[in-house]
Amino acid sequence: MDTSKYRKDFPILNTEDGPTYLDSACMTLRPQVVIDAINEYYTKYPACGGRSVHKLSWQVTEGFEMARDSLRRLMGAESSSEIVFTRNTTEGMNMVANGLGLGKGDKVLTSDKEHNSNVVPWHHLAKYKGINYQVVPAKDNYFFDLEALKEMIDSNTKLVSFVHTSNLDGNTNPAKDIIEICHDKGVKVLMDTAQSAPHKELNVVDLDVDFAAASAHKFCGPSGMGLLYGKYDELKELIPTYVGGSTVVSTSYESYELLPPPSCFEAGLQDYAGAIGAGAAAEYVMGVGRDSISKHENKLNVLLTKELEDLDGLSIVGPEVSQRGGICSFNLEGWDSTDVAMHLDKKYNIAIRSGMHCVHSWFNSRGIDGSARASIYFYNNEQDITAFTNAIKDTLSG
Ligand code: ALA
Repeated sequence: MDTSKYRKDFPILNTEDGPTYLDSACMTLRPQVVIDAINEYYTKYPACGGRSVHKLSWQVTEGFEMARDSLRRLMGAESSSEIVFTRNTTEGMNMVANGLGLGKGDKVLTSDKEHNSNVVPWHHLAKYKGINYQVVPAKDNYFFDLEALKEMIDSNTKLVSFVHTSNLDGNTNPAKDIIEICHDKGVKVLMDTAQSAPHKELNVVDLDVDFAAASAHKFCGPSGMGLLYGKYDELKELIPTYVGGSTVVSTSYESYELLPPPSCFEAGLQDYAGAIGAGAAAEYVMGVGRDSISKHENKLNVLLTKELEDLDGLSIVGPEVSQRGGICSFNLEGWDSTDVAMHLDKKYNIAIRSGMHCVHSWFNSRGIDGSARASIYFYNNEQDITAFTNAIKDTLSG
């Protein structure tokens, strides 16, 4: 992949003191085309969509719906009516959790390596609605155990919700197998695709998944913008969490009639600039091509890992590199992970993340304090990897 072609598009990579940015699993950088799309909304047609009938309003509605269609293609969905704008993956996960009407004794299963967005909603429902939330234990520490899943599904199981690609170690779960097992037993499936949709080709129709949530800020889009995909028939059954303006056909003092999906889920004035920016980001990332992105990321991760794996005092958290996409979580003996991240930032202008990456339950269950994490995207190049690995070697030798 010719990264120089893409690096030109990212203003922060072209400033004098631009960082070596290896924190894209947290938040990606934004290309000029996305910044322009957002600016254009505010400068050229800063109006409300779907309500007024003046020209500016029509332009907003058109931009909003075109963005929805770009997100549809990003997810491989059949119809743009199956794409709901949200604020982020977490909101999408909560919308499904709250909208299925789960109650006492209903069982929900997740993997054991979930982001808090796929842990807390279930604990919350267990506390307030009496659902039975259980975790499928991993096989060989890092891998999803299909046999354990089969054993744990019973007649009370209503949903299996799992992370497609882990933000902790970059490992991708066997989504198709999981979904097949669940559907054979009549169980619905929700997928957290926050770390997969930006990095690898994704097709919700091929996967046959019922619901999937993603965040725009992880595919070069604005922060505070996300999407929830749902099969249309599933969305029709899902109870909207937020209702109000623009979710209804009409109301009276006695009743209300909801609009069909996706409108019934998009209450109140929307983040039009955000949606339009997310659409531009989806187009940009699809233009780069996610097959090339995933190959490039893993190629760089192989280089990075080769340089680090044999260093005394460094341990990698996660399986072997071919199973880790563009993520390398690691610890340095005698260092707190946050001190590592702060040191790299201060001394070498290298941005990584540290801590538990919102996957507290995994770290806590293993008695590990956290990890430092380098995460790669298509705009990273070999120089970034060398800068990073040299900084680590320097740190360990200092
Ligand atoms: N989930 C994001 C991360 O892994 C915030 O950094």
